[in-house]
Amino acid sequence: MVLDQKFLEGKGTLITGGASGFGRGIASAYAKRGSDVVIVDINEDLLNETAKQISNETGQKIIPKVCDVSDSSQVKTMVKEAFSELDNIYILNTNAGIGPSFGKDITRIKESVFNQIININLKGQWLVAKEVSRKMKRQDFEPIAGKIICTASIAGMVVDAGLPIYSISKVGVIALMQLLARSLAPKITCNSMSPGYHVTGIYDNREDIMKMTMDEGHVKTPLNRIGTVEDVVNTSLFLASPLSNFMTGHNVPCDGGIAEVGVPPYYFKSDI
Ligand SMILES: NC(=O)c1ccc[n+]([C@@H]2O[C@H](COP(=O)([O-])OP(=O)(O)OC[C@H]3O[C@@H](n4cnc5c(N)ncnc54)[C@H](O)[C@@H]3O)[C@@H](O)[C@H]2O)c1
Repeated sequence: MVLDQKFLEGKGTLITGGASGFGRGIASAYAKRGSDVVIVDINEDLLNETAKQISNETGQKIIPKVCDVSDSSQVKTMVKEAFSELDNIYILNTNAGIGPSFGKDITRIKESVFNQIININLKGQWLVAKEVSRKMKRQDFEPIAGKIICTASIAGMVVDAGLPIYSISKVGVIALMQLLARSLAPKITCNSMSPGYHVTGIYDNREDIMKMTMDEGHVKTPLNRIGTVEDVVNTSLFLASPLSNFMTGHNVPCDGGIAEVGVPPYYFKSDI
C-alpha cells in the first residue's frame, strides 16, 4: 500500500509546531516515508529533543528551527534557511497553534488575548504558507509541485462558544486554505484537516483535562472513543500522498464524527 511505502524519498517536508503533539507525530511519519524534515517550533528544548529522537529512530535528516510563526521577519529567515538545507519542500504542514480558553464570553475577552490567538493560529499559518509557496510552486515535481496541509479544527466547522477566539481563528484557517488552493492551483494543492479531541500538548498531554473539556461542552463522539495523535497523522499521510492528488480546497474532519454526524446524548447507544 502506498501509505506504507517510502513515497516521500527525495522530498523535503516542513512542519510548524513540530516539537509536540500532531506536528511531532507527522514529522516522524514523514521521516519513516523517506523524507528529510524541517521541524519548526517556539519551544527550543522540546524541539531539539524531538529532532534528535526522530533522527535516531529513522536515520533521516531532521532539522530543528526555532521560530515564532506569528513574526514575519522570523518566518522569512526560517523559510530561507529551510530551503538552503533541503533540496525542496514538497509538503508544508502549517500546524502550530495554541488553544487557551481565556474566558468564554466573546464580549468580555481582552484585546491582547484576541491578538495572541489570531496572530499565532491564523496569521502564522498565512505567513508560513505565503513564504514557502513562492519557491514551492517553481519546483519541478510532476504532476504536483508541492502540497500544503493546514491544521484547522472542528471548532472552525461548528463554532465552539467555550473557545470563541480559537473558533474564529480556525474558521479563518479553513478560509485561508480555500483561498490558497484557488490561488496556487494547478501547481500546489492545499487542504486542511480538522481534528476533534485528541490528547496533545494543548491539553497538557492529559486525558482528564481533555475529557473535562468534552464534558463541559456535552460532546459525544459517534465513533465512541477519544481521538489519538495517530488518527491525525494518518489523515496527514493521506493528504501528503499521491492518493489525494486530485483533491484541493477541502477540509477533512478527523473527529470520530462529532462535527458532521453529531448525535444528541440521549441518542447515544453505549451497548454497541
Ligand atoms: N489536540 C486537539 O485535540 C486539537 C484539535 C483540533 C485542532 N488542533 C490543532 O492542532 C494543532 C497542533 O496542536 P497540538 O494539539 O498538537 O498541540 P501541541 O501543543 O502538542 O503542539 C503545538 C505546538 O505548536 C507550538 N507553537 C505554539 N505557538 C507557536 C508559535 N508562535 N510559533 C511556533 N510554534 C508554536 C508549541 O510549542 C507546540 O509544540 C494546532 O493548530 C491546534 O489548534 C488540536
